[in-house]
Order: sequence, then structure tokens, then C-alpha cells
Amino acid sequence: MLRIIIYTGKGGTGKTVNSCSTAVHLADNNYKTLILSSDPAHTLSDAFMTGYIGNEPAKVLDNLFALQIDPVIEINKNFSSILSYIVSVFFSKGIDETLSYEIAMLPGMTQLFSLLKIEEALKYGDYDAIVLDMPASGEALRYLYFPKLAGSIGRKLTGFTGVFSGFAKMFQPFSGFSTSQSNLPPSNVLLNELDLLSRLESLSKSITDSSITSLRLVANPDTFSIENAKRALMSANLYGINVDLVIINKIMPKESSDSYFANWSRFQNNKVEEAKSNFYPLPIREAKLYDRELRGIDMLRENASLIFENEDSSNIFYTGKVFEFVQDGSGLRMKLKVPFTDKDDFEIIRYGEQLSIKVRGPTGYVINVIPLPAATIGMKLERSKLVKDELDIFFER
Ligand SMILES: Nc1ncnc2c1ncn2[C@@H]1O[C@H](COP(=O)(O)OP(=O)(O)O)[C@@H](O)[C@H]1O
Ligand SMILES: [Mg+2]
Repeated sequence: MLRIIIYTGKGGTGKTVNSCSTAVHLADNNYKTLILSSDPAHTLSDAFMTGYIGNEPAKVLDNLFALQIDPVIEINKNFSSILSYIVSVFFSKGIDETLSYEIAMLPGMTQLFSLLKIEEALKYGDYDAIVLDMPASGEALRYLYFPKLAGSIGRKLTGFTGVFSGFAKMFQPFSGFSTSQSNLPPSNVLLNELDLLSRLESLSKSITDSSITSLRLVANPDTFSIENAKRALMSANLYGINVDLVIINKIMPKESSDSYFANWSRFQNNKVEEAKSNFYPLPIREAKLYDRELRGIDMLRENASLIFENEDSSNIFYTGKVFEFVQDGSGLRMKLKVPFTDKDDFEIIRYGEQLSIKVRGPTGYVINVIPLPAATIGMKLERSKLVKDELDIFFER
């Protein structure tokens, strides 16, 4: 059984150290583990406090290998012929070459090539578990849909001749790329693209399979990183990626005689309670703020044992969608699990791209602000009802 565990969340929340902790815990439990990071800074060697870790798996411990993805190498390997083709067309339209490269590299593309490293490890490695430390939430995940789009559009457009460059096609509105047969990109570009699409397709299959992949969210007990994690949860739900755990990291100790620290502790405690209802029914693990920087194998190991206790960190801690969107006629139905409320005790208000849901909790009202998907732009909130512990909210076009 193979497991892929991906950690994401806002910068500085502790994705890298929690990825490393999990990887050490897995290796200690006899899973042959590979940890990958695409952070531009060499954070894995900082966290493990080991020597240089580069673009090839380096042994950190028995059963544990680490690899620091170099996006430049990965882009050259996978995308250079497609990229130079797109750039050459921009250039022929009079756009400066440096700028052409900037435009042709879509947001999140660097991350996409980092994700492809998982596909490579799946193909060539014999690992039991792969842990990915993924910076910035969500961006790259949308490309997992790309093979479906580019693949089917491409095949339809070109009939028997193969695929039309789906990547180039994305830039058609700006560049006047022609879709006619006589204007096809050179065959090496098409072959490169076919290969890339099939690799993305297989990656996408593994990542959307909840028995293989879990996404775990890391946040701190503060508003900003919790909001960020909620958006990541929404995207993951939309892309069909299973989120199985939320880690609230860097929680200060509760008892303090100093009013400065007591204030922080009270604030953080409220945030943790809020997170529990916001992420309901996802399991939440609380991790303490150490009295020093969390790094080095011993500390990472201790951190993992506090988070996972005696459990197997490769477990799937939750399966299911927290939000679900179903097309319903011309509208959209949103289903959402909510904790402890009853029929007359909730209030839903929409503010632009957000939905505020107020439910009654054991200690008073709890407000959950949920980011709405882009499809609800141009729709209005029509009605809502509560069925068991699930809110059913209907948006009408
Ligand atoms: N629970 C913790 N206690 C003490 N220091 C922590 C804790 N979690 C993270 N850190 C420290 O915070 C910094 C940022 O953590 P890191 O894992 O690099 O965050 P991210 O990868 O999300 O940007 C690092 O110096 C790390 O050692
Ligand atoms: Mg990091």
C-alpha cells in the first residue's frame, strides 16, 4: 500500500517541520519514505540539520530519503521545448523575449513541475510513503485538471493527426495562435506535450484517489493562517483531493502569570476553538510552540510523537468532503456539515465571495466564514435548510 501525504498552508506556519516530523515518524515505523520539498530555500537540510540535500534522493535515516526539488532542472526536463515554442510565437508578435518567458510561465507552474516529481518517484521508486512539503496553498493543484482539458480539446480539434498544443492554446487569446492544421507546432513540441499530458494524467489519478493521497493543512492559532487553510480546504474539495487532518501548530502554553503571555494564550485558545468548528468534521491536532526553534531529527521525532501519539501517521484520518457542490438545474447546491446547531439556530449571510454561517455552539454562537467557489459569481443565495448535521444551501443563477 502506497501513501502520498501532502502538507500545505500559509508560509511560516510549520509545513516543512511537520512534513519532516511525519517523514521521520513514518521511517521509524518501517515505511520506506521519501520526503520532497520545492521550497526555493534549502529548507529540508535546515530542518533535518543534515548536509546538502539536492535534486536526487539523499539518505537521512534508515528508511528515510529526502529530495529538494530544483524547479529549474524540472522545467528544463519537462517543459523546455513547449516553453520555447510559446516564447518564439510571442517573440514573433513583437513581445520582448524576457517578458515572453514571464507570460508563458503561468502562475503555479513551478509548483506543477514539483508535483511531477511525485509521478517520477511513483514510477521509479519503491517507496511505501511519499511526503510532499508544498508551499502556498492550492495554486498548483488546479493543473491536475489540465490533462482532462487540454487532452480532450486537443484530440477533438485535430482528429487523427494527434494533439494540438494545449499549452499553446491557452495563450491563444493574447497571441493569435492559430488552430489550423497548417499551423501546428513542430513535432518535438507535440511529443513533449503528449508525454507531459500522460504524466499529468497519471499523477492526477493518484492524487485524487483518497486511498492513496491525503492533503493535510497546517495553520497557526491566528486569523490569517486559518483563513488561508480554509481556502485550501475549499480548493481541495473542488478538485476532489481528500483532506484528512488539520494541524494547528505553535500553540503557546496556557498557564502564564505574565499578562502579555496570558493575553496571547487566551486569544489562541479562542482561535483553536473556532478552528474546531470551522473545520468540522475534520480531525484537528494541536501542536505546541516549543521554547526554541523546532529542528533536528530528535525534535522532529518528539514533535511527531506528540501529534500522532501511538497512531500510525500514514493513517487516513478522515475521508469525505467537508463542502460539496452539486449542479442543480441552472443553480448550484452547496452541502456543508455543521457541528451542534438546530433548525432554528443558524443564520446565513453572503458577503461577496464569502458566506458567513452562524451556528449555536455549546458556549454561544460560532461564526464560520466560508470562501465561495468562482461558479457562484453571478448567482444569488436563494434558500437554505438544515437536514441532520448538514446545511443545504441553494444558489440560483
Ligand atoms: N511548534 C513549533 N515550535 C517552535 N518552532 C517552530 C514550530 N513550528 C515551526 N517552528 C519554526 O518556525 C519556522 C517556520 O517553520 P517552517 O516549517 O519552515 O514553516 P513553513 O514551511 O510553513 O514556511 C522554523 O524556524 C521552524 O523551526
Ligand atoms: Mg517551508
